[in-house]
Amino acid sequence: MKKLGIYVHVPFCRKKCSYCDFYSVRWDDELEHKYVESVKEEIEEYKKVLDGSYKVDTLYFGGGTPTIIKPSNIKKIADSVEKFSKIEEDAEISMEANPNTLTDDNLKEYKKAGINRLSIGIQSLNDDILKKIGRLHNSREALDAIDRAINCGFENINADVMFNIPGQTVEDIEDTLKRIMDKGVKHISFYSLKLEKGTPLYLMEQKKLITMPEEDTEREMYYRGREIMEEGGLMQYEISNFSANGKQCLHNLKYWNQDEYLGLGPSAHSFLDRTRYSNPSDLKLYCMGTKAFERTIQEKMDMEDLMFEYIMLMLRLTEGLDTEKFKGRYSIDFFEKYKRQLEILTANKLIEISENMVRLTHRGMDISNYVFEEFME
Ligand SMILES: C[S@@+](CC[C@H](N)C(=O)[O-])C[C@H]1O[C@@H](n2cnc3c(N)ncnc32)[C@H](O)[C@@H]1O
Ligand code: SF4
Repeated sequence: MKKLGIYVHVPFCRKKCSYCDFYSVRWDDELEHKYVESVKEEIEEYKKVLDGSYKVDTLYFGGGTPTIIKPSNIKKIADSVEKFSKIEEDAEISMEANPNTLTDDNLKEYKKAGINRLSIGIQSLNDDILKKIGRLHNSREALDAIDRAINCGFENINADVMFNIPGQTVEDIEDTLKRIMDKGVKHISFYSLKLEKGTPLYLMEQKKLITMPEEDTEREMYYRGREIMEEGGLMQYEISNFSANGKQCLHNLKYWNQDEYLGLGPSAHSFLDRTRYSNPSDLKLYCMGTKAFERTIQEKMDMEDLMFEYIMLMLRLTEGLDTEKFKGRYSIDFFEKYKRQLEILTANKLIEISENMVRLTHRGMDISNYVFEEFME
């Protein structure tokens, strides 16, 4: 039986952070109810896909802020999936969480509902920065949330941390990462702040009310962050992800390994049967039922598209691309097909090759888009 990852987008936030363009609307109780019923309906619609042919080995509640909705509703969604497809005993069931929504009571309930991995949005432990980017928690509340999760028995915890924030320094990054690691967190997603068009932060930058850090400073924060995490035993396994041994996020690994996954909820993306498609980013439309909205379907990807995407995804991982697996998947000798590119990229110290593995060097990671373009030709 094939394995499947399921992503559930929970499109609610208390308040929008100034940098974020993930799809979410302001939470209210009635909307939560309608949303949960619609997700159940969407699962029902997929029953032919789910029924019998897949085993779910990862389930990921992302957002938005999944911890805004009631634990009983998280359970309802998981139960609906289970109605059609077996969720494996040892499946990774993750949930994104904001520090200000984690109470002892709901943590215990989420655990009972089957959640076994929490991804907490810490972002920074500098209170001025947290305020500037519109977070609803301060550094003490963020650290308390980690403590609370650990005390409630969560062992698998990720912290999201952002760098490249206006006003942030390399020392801030050091301090934030060290204090998070001191709590025993075994996974950190370390994101470079991207100015997303239309967000308040983007508009502030356009009006010159804020200045983004220089490119050199951005890289310095990244290098120093990587160094600190690796010294603390959290090893890089993907451009933005660091973990202790065996604590990599299995769900996200599916994206990079080009494995199949089903996305439920508004704005969620799916990859099934060589086809990528997405739901509309519109909760009202979503709640009108699957007959009322159309999914944006990319054409079924041909072999060339799939192959290029596979290279791009695998090279994001520090383990790199396994040319034997590549051959198994595409019946093509990687070294032969990309001989010219491999020579140029190796000469420029952007990739390194050892036996059947091809991976980006640190330099290659810095300009990964350039490396990927080389393979596109
Ligand atoms: C989908 S968000 C949800 C997390 C959760 N709602 C929270 O805010 O704590 C996942 C993560 O993406 C990162 N993120 C969001 N917008 C970003 C941006 N513009 N640039 C870089 N990282 C971003 C943040 O670190 C955030 O925690
Ligand atoms: S970062 Fe998280 S809390 Fe903030 S707006 Fe985005 S999804 Fe919502």
